[in-house]
Amino acid sequence: MTSTLFYLWFSLLFLFSFAVVIDMEGLPDTGLDTTDWVAGQTPPLDDMWSLNDMQIAAKNVITARYYASYRTAALDEVTYQANLNIWKNVRLNGYSFRDVSDIDLSTSILGYNFSSPFFIAPAANAGHANASAELSLATAAGKAGILYVPSISATKSLEQIANVALEDQVMFHQEYIWSNRTQLIDELKRIEAAGYKAIVLTVDNTGIDGIRTRSLRYTGATSEAGHSATFDLASLSEIRNLTSLPIVPKGIKTAADALTCLELGFPAIYVSNHGGRTLDGAPTSVEILLDIRRNAPEVFERMEVYADGGVRRGNHVITLLALGARAVGLGRSPIFANIWGEVGVSRMIEMLQTELETTMQLMGESKVANINSSYVNTKLVESIYFGN
Ligand SMILES: Cc1cc2nc3c(=O)[nH]c(=O)nc-3n(C[C@H](O)[C@H](O)[C@H](O)COP(=O)(O)O)c2cc1C
Repeated sequence: MTSTLFYLWFSLLFLFSFAVVIDMEGLPDTGLDTTDWVAGQTPPLDDMWSLNDMQIAAKNVITARYYASYRTAALDEVTYQANLNIWKNVRLNGYSFRDVSDIDLSTSILGYNFSSPFFIAPAANAGHANASAELSLATAAGKAGILYVPSISATKSLEQIANVALEDQVMFHQEYIWSNRTQLIDELKRIEAAGYKAIVLTVDNTGIDGIRTRSLRYTGATSEAGHSATFDLASLSEIRNLTSLPIVPKGIKTAADALTCLELGFPAIYVSNHGGRTLDGAPTSVEILLDIRRNAPEVFERMEVYADGGVRRGNHVITLLALGARAVGLGRSPIFANIWGEVGVSRMIEMLQTELETTMQLMGESKVANINSSYVNTKLVESIYFGN
């Protein structure tokens, strides 16, 4: 009897000392059960059924300091939360009586063909999630035929990333507007020489990064970002003389700025609030695209528009496409998926493709190119954002 009690007590102690309890951060409940997981160890990839599951898995593996560095956003994270929640106020229209036996996700971005209308957005320092860092993001993107846009603040050099590209793989590259002009010129040259096909120029954190409290707890005061604070319209026009590659301004948040980029002759813009990491209170991409539709609709006819922020599901991609985006970026999710290395990133891409295909089939649309505003009802968002 005593030994049975002792055995029971010992088993309970064992169970409680290893069972992992993770704060799910209010993410949608997917029924994910973490009780068999071991803290600090990568859970089985087979347990993953959504991009949110992968975030929780990453939280279990990446050290608290670096998980915070990826997950963090600015100030009270109002924009970060809005990015995740905006989808609740959007409705998708599904049409019956259509042939949806053959779904086609393919699209082109700046004239280059890709298998899917979503891409891996620039996210700095991928190496804290996996030693392969950006290399597995590049190879997974290449194998899946999707676009990858490495960050200029990557763990691996831009040449190392270019070297793992598959034959014919097209990548763009992100650049910041450094106050150190020599650095800027040199990097633009290196990006071009390494074979990247376009520059994604981040214009939403000129001068300074947002104040990211969750991360500051580990790092102390915000370090000097090294970004130019004097970057104005004249500099934006002038920067095109420094490279022969097409430039896509990233971080457009108003119809006014979208129109300016159109007037200056840029081939594309990238609507983004930087995953909520820069201006807290900035609108979501859904709201920004609606603003452009109302106040500068010619933008969609005369240039390509990309968008990101809070995209975790296939129907989020479809919502942004329906509002006029040609391609949709993912920032945090690929980093989190990379805790398994390339195989995790590939699994993430497959999950999103499956969700996209399924949603399109259920909406009655077989071609990504045909997705338009007839598929989306945003009246609720508009009534809140515009007041009518
Ligand atoms: C850890 C992290 C690092 C980032 N680094 C960059 C960067 O170097 N350059 C840039 O333009 N955007 C950067 N971003 C913003 C992303 O490109 C993208 O706009 C944002 O993450 C999209 O939101 P999501 O994370 O909800 O998908 C970063 C985002 C994260 C989460």
